[in-house]
Amino acid sequence: MKITILFATETGNAETLADDLHDELAGDHEVRTASLADFGKAASGADLSLLVISTYGDGELPGMAKNFFAALEAGDVTVRGERYAVFGLGDRNYGATFGQASRLAEENLAKQGALIVAERDVHDASGPEFMDDQAKRWCAGVLQKLVS
Ligand SMILES: Cc1cc2nc3c(=O)[nH]c(=O)nc-3n(C[C@H](O)[C@H](O)[C@H](O)COP(=O)(O)O)c2cc1C
Repeated sequence: MKITILFATETGNAETLADDLHDELAGDHEVRTASLADFGKAASGADLSLLVISTYGDGELPGMAKNFFAALEAGDVTVRGERYAVFGLGDRNYGATFGQASRLAEENLAKQGALIVAERDVHDASGPEFMDDQAKRWCAGVLQKLVS
């Protein structure tokens, strides 16, 4: 399967995670990983796109994601009919805005016609689970949905 992994980060966690997922998937799939800031280059044709995105400020998208979502809204980039799944990074200490950027990202993708193929998951930086373990489990679940 052709898989594109897109990341949006402020301090690097989402990029590290995207690289780890890339390594995990590369044995069995044709994988490309790109910053959401380079979405022009990333624009898909993939069978599946995985978006790994953290939340910043007061529930906001990372800065590098803002142009992508503005372009999406303006119709300058299209995701119509493309299969997406979203993994968020956040911290439950932020309360109501926990993982909010991933929720907003998913909503916007769906609104513009992307097919959300699996349930979003969010890692909690203040929780006990390693980001990698949770994301790899999520990723395996996403792929499972596509084959079943
Ligand atoms: C200034 C700041 C604001 C944050 N705001 C939120 C927030 O509103 N909601 C949330 O779930 N996490 C929030 N976080 C936590 C980050 O999303 C979390 O640490 C994540 O792992 C960072 O990933 P990144 O390095 O890819 O940007 C915030 C972190 C910082 C430093």
